Amino acid sequence: MAAPILQVKELAVSFQTYAGVVSAIRGVSFDLMAGETLAIVGESGSGKSVTTKTLLGLNAPNATVADSSQILFGDQDLTQLKAGAWDQVRGAKIAMVFQDPMTSLDPTMTIGQQIAEPMVKHLGKSAKAAQESALALMEGVGIPDAAEHLHDYPHQWSGGMRQRAVIAIALAAEPDILIADEPTTALDVTIQAQILNVLKEEQKKRGMAMIFITHDLGVVADVADRVAVMYAGKIVEKGLVNEIFYNPKHPYTWGLLASMPTTSTALGTLQAIPGTPPDLLHPPKGDAFANRNAYALAIDHELEPPFFNISNTHAAASWLLDSRAPAVTPPLAIQQRQAFWQEHFVQEG
Ligand SMILES: Nc1ncnc2c1ncn2[C@@H]1O[C@H](COP(=O)(O)OP(=O)(O)OP(=O)(O)O)[C@@H](O)[C@H]1O
Ligand SMILES: [Mg+2]
Repeated sequence: MAAPILQVKELAVSFQTYAGVVSAIRGVSFDLMAGETLAIVGESGSGKSVTTKTLLGLNAPNATVADSSQILFGDQDLTQLKAGAWDQVRGAKIAMVFQDPMTSLDPTMTIGQQIAEPMVKHLGKSAKAAQESALALMEGVGIPDAAEHLHDYPHQWSGGMRQRAVIAIALAAEPDILIADEPTTALDVTIQAQILNVLKEEQKKRGMAMIFITHDLGVVADVADRVAVMYAGKIVEKGLVNEIFYNPKHPYTWGLLASMPTTSTALGTLQAIPGTPPDLLHPPKGDAFANRNAYALAIDHELEPPFFNISNTHAAASWLLDSRAPAVTPPLAIQQRQAFWQEHFVQEG
């Protein structure tokens, strides 16, 4: 496997609020390998966006990153970057695509200018060379008749076209890492598939690594090499995409797999995970999933589970994996889905 390009160690992020301190991210560690795609999945509020925004120093002003956290990128710890130094990283080495393209586009600049700008700023291209490259990139992300649309403004474009523009802007400075937070959720399935293809092609061409946040398991199976499952501000399971789909070990992952939509409807009814996530103003002791976990053990209410290794690429934080725990089999819904995915989604190897 390739070397890690980014190492996140014991990331903890809290927010000051009128009600108290919200412990949103509670010790998240993962490596991102050069050229790979890591998908982050988890229910709403589990901390996917806060985790990735922290990688870019984009959190809200009431956020605090714990002193013990590290985000190692090259020879830098990004948690220590001063405001001015972010310019060399954000949009240059690590770029982000958000769900809603209008929030990332400047209504006063043409699309062409917005794509060319990072090329001038970070790659030192001349204005003319940048405009030529911008045109090529627009064609690359599948914007038809790009030359005629170089001087258009964002409001003249449809949602799908705008999202392509946002992706072109993110790719413009040839970043080492692209973070995409539900980049296709608002789009129809055909455009979604086209945009995923564009991202995969760009990735292959340049060896860029991606972190991909999505609620869609079909998208996970399509783009991800590895998956991290988040719950209540922690990663509870991580592994190769095949390991997460075919051999999930954490009961929360079972619940999530049974509840998440895929672009295919063939899986039939979705089963919502009963209950609600804990209030992160008062994180519970023990396993935060315990009170929703049909398989919970007494110890789950007392002590946080450590990670147990299932393979050297797969680990889950659940006491069920302790050698003293009773053996349990995943629920039927998961077994059925495994059979379905085996046939339809994940490629071997
Ligand atoms: N500025 C803030 N102030 C207080 N709490 C915040 C702030 N931003 C995020 N949070 C809290 O941090 C937690 C994680 O939020 P986050 O946006 O990362 O969730 P998410 O996994 O991206 O969810 P979704 O799938 O809905 O996008 C939530 O409990 C959220 O309420
Ligand atoms: Mg989010």
